[in-house]
Amino acid sequence: MSGHAITAPTRNARLLAWVEEMTRLCQPAQVHWCDGSDQEYQQLCDLMVASGTFIKLDPQRRPNSYLARSHPSDVARVEDRTFICADTPEEAGPTNHWADPEEMRRTLLTLFKGCMTGRTLYVIPFAMGPLNSPLCKIGIEITDSPYVVANMRIMTRMGQAVLDKLGPDGTFIPCMHSVGAPLQPGQADVPWPCEPDPKKKYIVHFPQDYSIWSYGSGYGGNALLGKKCLALRIASLVAHKEGWLAEHMLILALTAPSGRKHYVAAAFPSACGKTNLAMMLPSLPGWQVHCLGDDIAWIRLGKDGRLYAMNPETGFFGVAPGTSQHSNPNALAAASRNTIFTNVLLTPDRDVWWEDMGVPAPAHGWDWQGQEWTPDCGRKGAHPNARFTAPAAQCPVIDPDWENPEGVPLSAILFGGRRPSTIPLVNEAFGWEHGVFMGSACGSETTAAALHTAGVLRRDPFAMLPFCAYHMGDYFAHWLELPQRTDRDKLPKIFFVNWFRKNDNGRWLWPGFGENSRVLKWICERVDGTGRARQTAIGWLPTPEALDLNGLRISPEDVNELLSVDVPGWKNEIADVAANYRKLDSHLPAALSQELEALDQRLSAAR
Ligand code: GTP
Ligand code: SPV
Ligand code: MN
Repeated sequence: MSGHAITAPTRNARLLAWVEEMTRLCQPAQVHWCDGSDQEYQQLCDLMVASGTFIKLDPQRRPNSYLARSHPSDVARVEDRTFICADTPEEAGPTNHWADPEEMRRTLLTLFKGCMTGRTLYVIPFAMGPLNSPLCKIGIEITDSPYVVANMRIMTRMGQAVLDKLGPDGTFIPCMHSVGAPLQPGQADVPWPCEPDPKKKYIVHFPQDYSIWSYGSGYGGNALLGKKCLALRIASLVAHKEGWLAEHMLILALTAPSGRKHYVAAAFPSACGKTNLAMMLPSLPGWQVHCLGDDIAWIRLGKDGRLYAMNPETGFFGVAPGTSQHSNPNALAAASRNTIFTNVLLTPDRDVWWEDMGVPAPAHGWDWQGQEWTPDCGRKGAHPNARFTAPAAQCPVIDPDWENPEGVPLSAILFGGRRPSTIPLVNEAFGWEHGVFMGSACGSETTAAALHTAGVLRRDPFAMLPFCAYHMGDYFAHWLELPQRTDRDKLPKIFFVNWFRKNDNGRWLWPGFGENSRVLKWICERVDGTGRARQTAIGWLPTPEALDLNGLRISPEDVNELLSVDVPGWKNEIADVAANYRKLDSHLPAALSQELEALDQRLSAAR
């Protein structure tokens, strides 16, 4: 493999040495430096069609789009195989899986040794954030998966421009990835190579040098290392050190009929509605939503003392099932061309279909595993965590400022989750500390976005449980410090929302999707000081008249239930939050135990 340095499109000595070292370790058949061009993308797609990884969709129906089917074991993030190798377990904290850095390095070196035999090693230079942004971070992903290269091309700024910015002495975050399936001479490849044994998959982060090592999976957050590994876990460490925030948040702009525009960021756990809210079509006449990002926000204090949010990605890796003309027409439009679909159903006319797409299922097709499928066969056509990878620029309501290097100033921050009971439709925090408390108490029914039992309640503070790479108590403290660095009244107002309330029969109490604009409207009115609210034990709730319910068919009883304080439910909530707080030990900021105590007392008084 020697000699490739001569043809490498960079003179960055650190990068050349690292690629050289990794090439020696992984023993690929060849090395390819990605330039990020259209031509290169096309060649990779053609290669994957030839190898069976990609199925080309009908260019008339879905121009320049492909379907990939993963191995049935490789369909979501693997949280129990995700490790933070801090120097001590205490630094990683009780919410992370810690592993000894030295021991893990040895394990990884053994796994990666010769792991790319018979394959191509791709070097992907990528940037998270606009190249001219003060927050922009450069990563280099080494991978043996052309599927990863194609997805990274959509999800990040990738290619030669990044190497140019890196220059001869710039630094980068090294992201090492292998599907863990070397090919012996003469051995035939499979459409989705990976390590099928879950115990041999590793998603590893080293806080010491910010390096990332991912082995055995080719799927989403496990393999597109710019996303969860770099832009959330590693970025959470950098942000903690440098005084900014790396968050699992969408960013949207809401424009009132008057023309007044507010930027809002919202943290909901995985598969809990970020993509839907980020580009929703408001049902309220005259209101407009524009999208800046659907999954990750990097937030910092601007010179004017306000918080500015920026989306480090350039694409959407969105949940396909449930995406319909009714729920999210803008996501459908974004995925109408130049899109990679993973684990959806293939129709006889070579288009895609998934559950709750809002169009009739085809009479027959091929399910996400490639098996013959009919609507009555008893199996799902698409995997519940099937995804589309679509360029953000194709979203019809992408905001003109979505690539603004400075980001946009936030008026409000929302937290939420899937909560069938207790948590009201919307609830405004009394102030910053109470808002941070709300974020810390965030919980949700689990979803198919990670491999675990779906549908059980778990605490997911700030929707960052799987993504905060240091002690959760220190993360809370980091949020609590902001008022010491700026005027309180310049910080965004904080709200908790819940679109997922159900009645005793399991029926949704709130219609959701475009109707969530009614809640966003009230939130903006509260920011502007005009919205009416009543003070309760848990926060400011809208009076039933304060919510614009014009033209919505909803019973007064349902509205009452959505906006009421369920005292026994909240008492249970407090007990559960307290139990989770106790795990944080001495790292739990006193301000949060005080918030919990104060809430408990207000609820007792309200009884
Ligand atoms: P990740 O990409 O995993 O981080 O998730 P996300 O938060 O972007 O999730 P997404 O927006 O894709 O949400 C997916 C699921 O939430 C789908 O099943 C949607 O139908 C459902 N959903 C989103 N918004 C609403 C809503 O307002 N009401 C209801 N009932 N369901 C919703
Ligand atoms: C999530 O699980 O929060 C996602 C999907 O956004 S993945 O990129 O696979 O992590
Ligand atoms: Mn996510």
